Amino acid sequence: MEIRISPSILAADLSNLRSELEKVENADLLHIDVMDGHYVPNISFGMPIIKAAKRSSAVPLDIHLMIADADQFLEEFASVQPEFITVHYEAVTHLQRTLQKIRDLGVKAGVSLNPHTPLNGLKYILDDLDLILLMTVNPGFGGQKFIPAMVQKVRDCRELIGVRPIELQVDGGIGLDNLADLLMAGANNFVAGSAIFGAEDPAFYIEKMRAAARQG
Ligand code: DX5
Ligand code: ZN
Repeated sequence: MEIRISPSILAADLSNLRSELEKVENADLLHIDVMDGHYVPNISFGMPIIKAAKRSSAVPLDIHLMIADADQFLEEFASVQPEFITVHYEAVTHLQRTLQKIRDLGVKAGVSLNPHTPLNGLKYILDDLDLILLMTVNPGFGGQKFIPAMVQKVRDCRELIGVRPIELQVDGGIGLDNLADLLMAGANNFVAGSAIFGAEDPAFYIEKMRAAARQG
């Protein structure tokens, strides 16, 4: 499956959003972390920043909703025509319906699982999914330490996916030090916030991630 690198703008200097996004023009996706202070113990940003990101970059948006009541806001998030909208398994009651609604809005549908959430709940809804996001930290903050046990979860998830065209995304503490292990385990889509925006040359860091993925 195609390798994709998705820098998380949570780690960007939001007072200079346009110039920050110019530094990652070579990315495949722009990862947008929406946090509501209910589902996760932190608040990030919402539509005004997402619209500003959309105006400032041609890179397709990858919206990661860490919010309660996602259903209520899907139309609004879909209005910026992102490539993906991802909701949390733990925060949605009728997941299959939510995924269908995302697709009906013309957006690819993703589900995100926290580190402790088992994979088996996905078994019967695989045909409704375009992306599975395995959290490799607990959601809520950038700059946390990668949980190594998640490598096995990625392996198990790729096996569950089988031949279906579902992207397997990892998010949290991702960087050049763990990319090869995750790639080997079956991940193809890599979110990185602090590693990319904290690098001296973010575009070059993205290229290094791609090169590492090609070698893997
Ligand atoms: C965590 C977010 C991540 C975060 C990644 O809740 O979902 O996308 O921004 O940041 P790093 O790469 O710094 O762990
Ligand atoms: Zn995220």
